[in-house]
Amino acid sequence: MTREEAKKTIDTLIEKIEYYNSRYYQDSISEISDYEFDQMLKSLENLENQFPEFKYGYSPTQRVGGAITKSFDTVIHKNSMLSLSNTYSEEELLDFDKRVAKGLEGQTYEYFCELKFDGVAISLWYEDGILLKAVTRGDGTRGDDITNNAKTIRSVPLKVKTSRSLPLEFEVRGEVFMSRQIFNELNEEKELRGEPLLANPRNTTSGTLKMQDSSIVSSRKLDCFLYYFQSTERVVSTHEDAIHLLEQSGFNVSKTYKKCQNIHEVIEYITSWEDRRFDLPLDTDGIVIKVNSLEQQDQLGFTAKSPRWAIAYKYKTQSAVTLLKGITFQVGRTGAITPVAELEPVLLAGTTVKRASLHNANEIERLGLKIGDYVFVEKGGEIIPKVTGVDLSKRSSNLPDFKYITKCPECGTVLVRKEGEAVHFCPNELACPPQVLGKIEHFIQRKAMNVESLGPETIRGLLEQDKIKDIADLYQLTYDDLNGLEFKVFSDKKEDYSIRTLREKSAQNIIESIEKSKFQPFDRLIFGLGIRYVGSTVAEKLAEYFPDIHALASASYESLVEVPEIGERIAESVRLYFTDPKNINLVNRLVQYGVRVKSEPKEKSLNNVLEGKTFVISGVFEKVSREKLQDLIKDFGGKVVSSISSKLDYLVAGKNMGPSKLEKANKLNIRLLSEDEFFDMIGK
Ligand code: IVH
Repeated sequence: MTREEAKKTIDTLIEKIEYYNSRYYQDSISEISDYEFDQMLKSLENLENQFPEFKYGYSPTQRVGGAITKSFDTVIHKNSMLSLSNTYSEEELLDFDKRVAKGLEGQTYEYFCELKFDGVAISLWYEDGILLKAVTRGDGTRGDDITNNAKTIRSVPLKVKTSRSLPLEFEVRGEVFMSRQIFNELNEEKELRGEPLLANPRNTTSGTLKMQDSSIVSSRKLDCFLYYFQSTERVVSTHEDAIHLLEQSGFNVSKTYKKCQNIHEVIEYITSWEDRRFDLPLDTDGIVIKVNSLEQQDQLGFTAKSPRWAIAYKYKTQSAVTLLKGITFQVGRTGAITPVAELEPVLLAGTTVKRASLHNANEIERLGLKIGDYVFVEKGGEIIPKVTGVDLSKRSSNLPDFKYITKCPECGTVLVRKEGEAVHFCPNELACPPQVLGKIEHFIQRKAMNVESLGPETIRGLLEQDKIKDIADLYQLTYDDLNGLEFKVFSDKKEDYSIRTLREKSAQNIIESIEKSKFQPFDRLIFGLGIRYVGSTVAEKLAEYFPDIHALASASYESLVEVPEIGERIAESVRLYFTDPKNINLVNRLVQYGVRVKSEPKEKSLNNVLEGKTFVISGVFEKVSREKLQDLIKDFGGKVVSSISSKLDYLVAGKNMGPSKLEKANKLNIRLLSEDEFFDMIGK
């Protein structure tokens, strides 16, 4: 391919990928499959590696991360990022309206209302349509340059379509957030690995944005809503116009805004979102009310801390008091016991709350709960209600102390609690019904073997009728086992159920998707086995390192801890899993049934991909020694030099590299490569 052809193909690929990306993030529409999308991205990456001169900062390949930020530069904001003053009541809101009316001396005015997204504020600077910098709020005057990390956020355009209405330079502000779903998934993985849980999506977002390794940031799937546009040249006259301009230019704007003619409409808007906001995928903690006309905003101006033309109305955390009727216990697929508060139903933030998780025995002790107590239940940022305390004024004098269970509520086995762990476990893995069911559900989920069309009720039916006992048995199921299978469908109340029969079509679908699941990638299988502490990310790392299940099963503790990001606890757990003959037997049966148990062979790389390129190596590396790295560069046609000059193409940056080298490289605009990026480049 000639250089011109390469450039043209790269340009087209970038345009296409960004188009599908924005369709997906803005309109929730997948016009092509994930596979096709990944293939396009791969082609682009390959071309960029062959023609690094066309590797643009705005290329979607930047979104997968890899760039390391050792320390974040401080940047002075173009315009200070002020905060908003808060109100908590209608009266205060009416006072705000009076101040606005007074400031505008009899003019008519409109408000523009938006939800107040509970994330981390960000300022994005664009020049010539290209994202130049992303800066945190910091102290309002200075923030941190987090450009590398912000580039991984799929809903932040790296390049916008320039149009007549967009000035050459402009700034956009918004809120970076993590959806509750992604947050919960992250915590589920943490729980599996036995790590401390993350407190809430906002703190997690803030921590993620300040990570040094942008590839981890990328894997965290942050999102962003934009709500503010600013440029020296005034191209819009109202905030509403600004929002529309952002939408038209491809920025992600939440569709929840509303223009209001007066403060009473604002109050209606506030009321209308009070309960509905919990249906949104992210946390919100109030409403932001802005005077719509920019000229009127200027007339009203600012106090030292906040604009006079805007205010935030914060919703109160909703709480209720209700009777704790009992504490029940759920058994998860790993045997972990979760105590659940059974409450007298109470209306809270638009939904009736009947149950709340109590996490573990320590939490019950911390709260000092006794059955028969009246407890405070809150619904804050989180969608799941929390028991936050006991209303002692309502406690009757004769309530007995609460005693935690000692035996599994499902199978009667004596529970165990390992030293230093808060959670009790039922050790009867193979026969405790919810554990057996849970393991199969875990195995067939989308992130694992992806057996669509097989639901928990059907699995329960199959288990009850002894058609399966474990995950391997799924591959022995026949059409006749399924066709006509009767299973129970439970109503909300646990005791009530109706009987359903599985028909031909569903039976056929299930057989087909089980067959298809045999070809899931190796890491999905590892994840699906449900080894303690092995979440999907850990499974990926293991699949990258071990070529097949036999290698993984016979790996020593020492070789397991050698795998990047695998710590002692995970290594121990993997060893424990594969030393149990029952698990070995299970895996052998999976192999027998033809389930794919090895990694896909990687494409062979071009031998001279680094031809004509010069490299400086600095710091220490995780996967290889410096000597090995030098050899690799030479093997692939590159040249290793010792000093940084403007002619240098790449600096391969390991851990603890000298700050002066880094500074010099940055000054000369030398491209930094992480260890992983280097390996990507040579296709390893
Ligand atoms: S406008 C000068 N709109 O709330 C006014 N802020 O307390 C600029 N926030 O720092 C802010 N949602 O992080 C605005 N729809 C929204 C918002 C919003 C959340 C955050 C933002 C800001 C803080 C102010």
